[in-house]
Amino acid sequence: MGTVEDLKPIFSPKSIAVIGASRSPMKIGYEILQNILVQGYTGKVYPINPETPTIMGLKTQPSVLAVKDDIDLAIIAVPAEFVPKVMTECAKKKVKGVIVISSGFSETGEKGKLLEEEVLQIARKGGIRLIGPNTLGYKDPIDNLDAAFVFGMPRPGEIALISQSGALCIGMIYYANGEHIGLSRVISVGNKADVDDADLIDYLDNDPSTKVIAMYIEGIKDGKKFLDSARRCQKPIVAIKAGRTPAGSAAASTHTGSFSGSDAVYDSAFKQVHIQRAYDVIELFDFARALAYQPPTLSNKVGIISNGGGAGIMIADWCESIGLKVPNLSKKTVEALRPHLPSITTARNPLDVAGDARFYRYHATGSIMLSDPNVDALIMTCVHAGIARPREYVGAVIKLVEEKRNLKKPIVACWVGGPEVDEVVQELRVKNIPVYPSAMRAAKAVRCLYDEGRRLEILTKKRQPKDNSGN
Ligand code: ACO
Repeated sequence: MGTVEDLKPIFSPKSIAVIGASRSPMKIGYEILQNILVQGYTGKVYPINPETPTIMGLKTQPSVLAVKDDIDLAIIAVPAEFVPKVMTECAKKKVKGVIVISSGFSETGEKGKLLEEEVLQIARKGGIRLIGPNTLGYKDPIDNLDAAFVFGMPRPGEIALISQSGALCIGMIYYANGEHIGLSRVISVGNKADVDDADLIDYLDNDPSTKVIAMYIEGIKDGKKFLDSARRCQKPIVAIKAGRTPAGSAAASTHTGSFSGSDAVYDSAFKQVHIQRAYDVIELFDFARALAYQPPTLSNKVGIISNGGGAGIMIADWCESIGLKVPNLSKKTVEALRPHLPSITTARNPLDVAGDARFYRYHATGSIMLSDPNVDALIMTCVHAGIARPREYVGAVIKLVEEKRNLKKPIVACWVGGPEVDEVVQELRVKNIPVYPSAMRAAKAVRCLYDEGRRLEILTKKRQPKDNSGN
């Protein structure tokens, strides 16, 4: 069986056993069972606990061996020293996949490493795929399955998130929820004893609900396997690789037992396989949102519209400093723009549409800029400016995005102006239009779409049959 088939019982289980389901609301085994039930999981659920006959109204079993039906997935939340015993029972029961939530393995030192190896060997011999140990589990907002502890689900969407850190994973879910960024699958991988990033890239590449794969990585054990999966992957991958410095690297080894490795090696490997590197959570989601909801750019030529000269200049600086171009507009574009501009402004790129710009000025200038053959991406900016009409700016951006889809030129929004503007631009987030409160973030998002365009170009060339005619 290939990885995708292997992982189906874990991610689309027909039945789940929770080993260590607890009577105490303070315990992780209680939370996992509760979360599965709260989300309305429709398969069979078996709480396993030898100490009590029922939990949350469900009959318990003392061990998986006492369950009559087949079990696709077992979620294990008993102290580390008992994990080999319950894993052996899972192997006997022919459970197909397990998630080991328990910590106390390779992240704790030599003794923990041996225990992790023992658990891995039981899994391998029993033909069981294993996520963890030392993991939060996973949350699936598309199929409404919460197989993790910690309450709360992501908004459903098209960005898959793989995280080596459990706590950060939850933080990222809540951040994405606040930003109206929807997620397809969220998987906490923990120590990656068996199922690793490469397996999950393969799995998510085949997942019709996922458009972009976002990752938080502390260390990768099998570099070749990872690079092969990333190279094969048809979807864009954005990744944070943490543990870049001696201090970060030392912290990663006690967090998930990871060996962070040389940052320069990771950097060049990511470049080789076109993984876009992000350096913090905000950047990870900035890039992922742009990649999921705007087309890649055909070239690095960017048009900039702003109702504040300063913002336009800063965006132009950022674009040029990260390898994008802010080209001169064609003569035809300049002539077409003039009638829409107040006499105080000049028809050029970056274009200052003046502080009092309303819907029609934004919409008309945006439309004209996008028709210019020298422009392959557009950054539309609103500065509070006192007299600005952010609501009309938002309306113009939404209309342009909807009308100009066929042009395949990305449109990214940018704003400056505190909570009053933030509240209004929320409408853009709700509509999945990338919107950033800084020149740097908007320019970097366009750069990321430019890099995605180059990745796709290379992929297409590789797929084209070789011309043997000598032409
Ligand atoms: N089979 C089934 N149930 C059992 C078994 C068994 N063999 N043995 C014990 N149980 C029951 C217990 O009776 C208990 O139920 P009860 O509360 O109703 O009596 C339940 O299982 C839990 O067992 P406890 O011994 O009470 O264990 P506890 O809940 O205190 O801790 C846990 C278990 C949560 C797995 C803990 O050992 C642990 O590892 N905690 C950390 C988890 C974690 O942080 N994971 C990583 C997060 S992601 C990251 O940060 C990278």
